Amino acid sequence: MTAVLEIEHLTLRFGGVNALNDLSLQIDQKALHAVIGPNGAGKTSFFNCLTGYYRPTSGVARFQGSDITGLGAAKVAALGIRRTFQNIRVFPKMSVLENVLAGGHLRATANLLSITVGGPGFRQSERELHKEAMASLEFVGLADQFNNLAGDLPYGMRKRMELARVLIANPIVVLLDEPAAGVSSVEREELSRVIRRIHDNGTCVVMIEHDVDLVMEIATEVTVLDHGRIIASGLPEEVRNDAEVIRAYMGRDRK
Ligand SMILES: Nc1ncnc2c1ncn2[C@@H]1O[C@H](COP(=O)(O)OP(=O)(O)OP(=O)(O)O)[C@@H](O)[C@H]1O
Ligand SMILES: [Mg+2]
Repeated sequence: MTAVLEIEHLTLRFGGVNALNDLSLQIDQKALHAVIGPNGAGKTSFFNCLTGYYRPTSGVARFQGSDITGLGAAKVAALGIRRTFQNIRVFPKMSVLENVLAGGHLRATANLLSITVGGPGFRQSERELHKEAMASLEFVGLADQFNNLAGDLPYGMRKRMELARVLIANPIVVLLDEPAAGVSSVEREELSRVIRRIHDNGTCVVMIEHDVDLVMEIATEVTVLDHGRIIASGLPEEVRNDAEVIRAYMGRDRK
């Protein structure tokens, strides 16, 4: 296995709360790795630590062998780790295409610095970006929506648009925080197909998801968090039968 992410003894404290408690985990470049667990287990905190939104209290996260602990969010994104958020983040008054272009901004900035703004290179780069944004929309099945206002899209389509925004950056790893939460069963099928395709293209996918059926269907590895600790990690069928996992889910509120 080639670990693209190596997490060692990651701990995150908020006052008296251990949001993450000594997490150690390796994630394979080829994985579609699901992170599950009850509400408040620390799943989003884990993503926040990996993507530079939170600085862990202690522990180390490595990406392709390099320490990324404490790097800011923009630097982590520029390395090729992209994410979506549990609460959808769209610009409702902008078109679907413009929303996707916003995801290419960071990478484009690096390119644009080296060329004269407004010169032929600039126009070329803008055209390229536009083409890639359309290709990303095509990939998630939303090419025909490109000119519509993002705020007018049904919720499930907005979730797919967020995937297109992540994909335009050509990420090495994508972290998806509850990509199928709150969507209809038809949209859930679409989303699951797109997520699988992202993985089939060679991108490592790490996905927080409450829908255990979806996880069992598409994940290659599953990690279960409870109270900030890893209580199980392995193949989906191994984790499903783990007594501690079943206990962690019992008697708790689930979304
Ligand atoms: N910024 C913060 N300040 C204080 N406490 C926080 C903060 N972020 C998370 N926590 C706490 O850390 C714990 C883990 O929260 P987290 O959001 O990571 O859980 P989760 O597994 O993503 O839950 P959910 O399934 O509800 O999204 C919770 O007790 C939460 O209240
Ligand atoms: Mg969460």
